[in-house]
Amino acid sequence: MAETMKTFQIQEINEYTETLKSFLLPKAFDVSPGQFVTLWIPGIDEKPFAISETTSSNFEITIRAVGTFTKRMMEMKKGDWIGIRGPFGNGFQLMGNTILVGGGCGNAPLKYLAQKLDEVKYDFTWIAGAKTSLELPFKDTLIANKYWIPMTDDGTYGQKGFSTDPLEPLIIERSPSVIYGSGPEPMLLEIRKLAAKYQVPVQLSFERYMKCGIGICGQCCLDGSGLRLCVEGPVLDEKAMAAVTEWELPHRSASGKRNRR
Ligand SMILES: Cc1cc2nc3c(=O)[nH]c(=O)nc-3n(C[C@H](O)[C@H](O)[C@H](O)COP(=O)(O)OP(=O)(O)OC[C@H]3O[C@@H](n4cnc5c(N)ncnc54)[C@H](O)[C@@H]3O)c2cc1C
Ligand code: FES
Repeated sequence: MAETMKTFQIQEINEYTETLKSFLLPKAFDVSPGQFVTLWIPGIDEKPFAISETTSSNFEITIRAVGTFTKRMMEMKKGDWIGIRGPFGNGFQLMGNTILVGGGCGNAPLKYLAQKLDEVKYDFTWIAGAKTSLELPFKDTLIANKYWIPMTDDGTYGQKGFSTDPLEPLIIERSPSVIYGSGPEPMLLEIRKLAAKYQVPVQLSFERYMKCGIGICGQCCLDGSGLRLCVEGPVLDEKAMAAVTEWELPHRSASGKRNRR
């Protein structure tokens, strides 16, 4: 299925704010937590997105408007047609006694991961952070989740601080078997540092500009390792991350050139 584009009608839209929405689409194929799909709007672009939940018949995809494609998504209505390809990438491996750390829309794949962990009755705690309340999706769903620790940088929802702030005491208290992370790269690198300090394995989901999604174009290759984030990622463990030399460098744009800081 991965190479084949199929078009589907949007089934429902859940609007958190004008720039943060979840879209329900028919479940075109099976997908694991942490894997991603690409969405296509004819004449606009094709872009990668994680799955934030599945039901027997639908995928949920949660999008924050940042540029051309995602802003166009905010104009889409129930019943509009959209192209989907996937599933792509490796996804998270499910383990018990874990900590999930998400930032902003990075919480999207963690919601689906939490759904699957819940189904197999694996114990987890989910630290869900965002810059501000308006950028934190799923509040209604998650408020009922006893494992959830909400955080905002400005204190407008949950505890004030970064989503990595409660992580160290939690690691000490829980001795987790793995820490899952998804969100901005500085947050992921902070998780990596704390995990190394306490020798806890990590599974961290990274983002890079992607084009083909199937390992051909080389757009998402990580310097030093040759890892294609769309195939060998987006979820990396410590061994995979250790070979990468481009951490903390600006990301590459569509041309392959690194953006200026
Ligand atoms: C594997 C994977 C999974 C993803 N899952 C999701 C998801 O579930 N939900 C979601 O909303 N997004 C997700 N993204 C990011 C999403 O693909 C980008 O937001 C999207 O490509 C931006 O396209 P655009 O045309 O709107 O912006 P562009 O026009 O490409 O970019 C416009 C501006 O926004 C900046 N920008 C681009 N991406 C981001 C970003 N992620 N955060 C902040 N600024 C950015 C660019 O540097 C540029 O300055 C994922 C990305 C990957 C690689
Ligand atoms: S997007 Fe083309 S190789 Fe990854």
